[in-house]
Amino acid sequence: MTKSVRVALLGCGTVGRQVVRLIDEQADELAARVGAPVELVGVAVRRPHKHADLRPGLLTTDVAGLVVRDDVDVVVEVIGGIEPARSLLLDALKTGRSVVTANKTLLAEDGGTLAEAADASGADLYFEAAVGGAIPLLRPLRESMAGDRITRVSGIVNGTTNFILSAMDSSGAGYGDALEEATRLGYAEADPGADVDGYDAASKAAILASLAFHTRVRASDVHCEGIRSVTSRDMAAAATLGCTIKLLAICEQIPDGRPGVPDAVSARVYPAMIPRSHPLAAVDGAFNAVFVEAEAAGQLMFYGQGAGGAPTASAVLGDLVAVARNRVAGGRGPRESAYASLPIQPMGETPTRYHISLEVADRAGVLATIAGQFAGHGVSIAAVRQQGDGAAAGDARLIIVTHRAPDAALAATVEDLAELDIVRGIDSVLRVEDLGRTVSALGVAG
Ligand code: NDP
Ligand code: HSE
Repeated sequence: MTKSVRVALLGCGTVGRQVVRLIDEQADELAARVGAPVELVGVAVRRPHKHADLRPGLLTTDVAGLVVRDDVDVVVEVIGGIEPARSLLLDALKTGRSVVTANKTLLAEDGGTLAEAADASGADLYFEAAVGGAIPLLRPLRESMAGDRITRVSGIVNGTTNFILSAMDSSGAGYGDALEEATRLGYAEADPGADVDGYDAASKAAILASLAFHTRVRASDVHCEGIRSVTSRDMAAAATLGCTIKLLAICEQIPDGRPGVPDAVSARVYPAMIPRSHPLAAVDGAFNAVFVEAEAAGQLMFYGQGAGGAPTASAVLGDLVAVARNRVAGGRGPRESAYASLPIQPMGETPTRYHISLEVADRAGVLATIAGQFAGHGVSIAAVRQQGDGAAAGDARLIIVTHRAPDAALAATVEDLAELDIVRGIDSVLRVEDLGRTVSALGVAG
């Protein structure tokens, strides 16, 4: 057997601890699969007193020194955040060390710089754990589907928000109560901002869009809305349409339609109604799932545990085996593929559909005035239903579902509706994503 592949682990928290455990427990299998022993030679942390149970001699607080130590071949980074992770990984890559990272924040912010450093030195950069935890998703996009044309990747990539929305859907709970339960059960962190405001999903959307469309997409290119404003009334409205509400990350390649003008990439995160008949609607609790549509392959779905120490460590170990095999074979895995360099479509120009529920005065001519607002913005109405009486005497509730229109036109329509005297209030505005299925309750086809 050839000489061992020597690994430095940066960070030993929720994920890092499980990486250490799997390397230790599976030493013989890993060696057989790689063709060389995989040896942990150092673990960098901030507070070594918390890690007294680790094998003596492994721990260090000199993380920068560990990365470039002569006895390190592969650097596994599970610290998180932008700095010092970026500088550490650049040092590793520039000096030819392979890198495995779970750091979606860094990859979405500056993955291009890391990829360039990897290309310059011929080192590997693998990051399967950065999106969807245990779910094998990035390598299928990057390798298995490299011969196909992906048209859309849409999914549930944040377990915390999916837990909250699933609880709201199944129990009728409000957002606050569902968040409280998620916190009590350990799904939501003490500061759940990155999850509930959509930033975690936006980082993952940037990574997915980059791989799917061979274009560098950064977190700042992703339109991002979280779930704080989703109400139990929204959830009830969705149920009436045969839908549920999910926080979706949607990455699409959208044809411009004009000859010679390139397609654009749309990457966006927001809560949206999806038909209950869609496989993503059945993804409950803290699970993740990603639906991939490609020209030749058709529709594919990837499902599993999107977070947690052991599931995430499983993906890290898969990458570690891959880069270790490459080192043993004297080669490297696929480079970053950003050749298409497609433009990013602004959210305002992206075609979406809205569901709007509003209280209006119930008298002659009201519907015509409201329809006129939609027409004025070039928005076509797909279905309207007047549902019983409004909250006040003489009022009615209207539910309107539109056809697809540029998002800015839909938003402007809602703004103008809110200004009308005959509109008493707007109860709920949500996007509707058919995702290839039919939203049927109002007789609306995609
Ligand atoms: P934790 O906060 O649990 O652990 C972070 C670790 O990094 C700790 O061991 C900490 O040391 C160490 N650390 C922090 N700063 C430094 C530093 N400057 N120098 C050396 N060590 C440092 O994070 P997680 O394990 O939860 O997450 C790690 C990465 O994995 C993140 O990028 C995260 O986004 C990603 N990820 C996490 C998932 C999860 O379910 N937790 C799921 C998917 C991805 P000390 O222990 O001494 O404080
Ligand atoms: N906080 C994330 C989630 C897990 O709730 O899914 C790490 O990506």
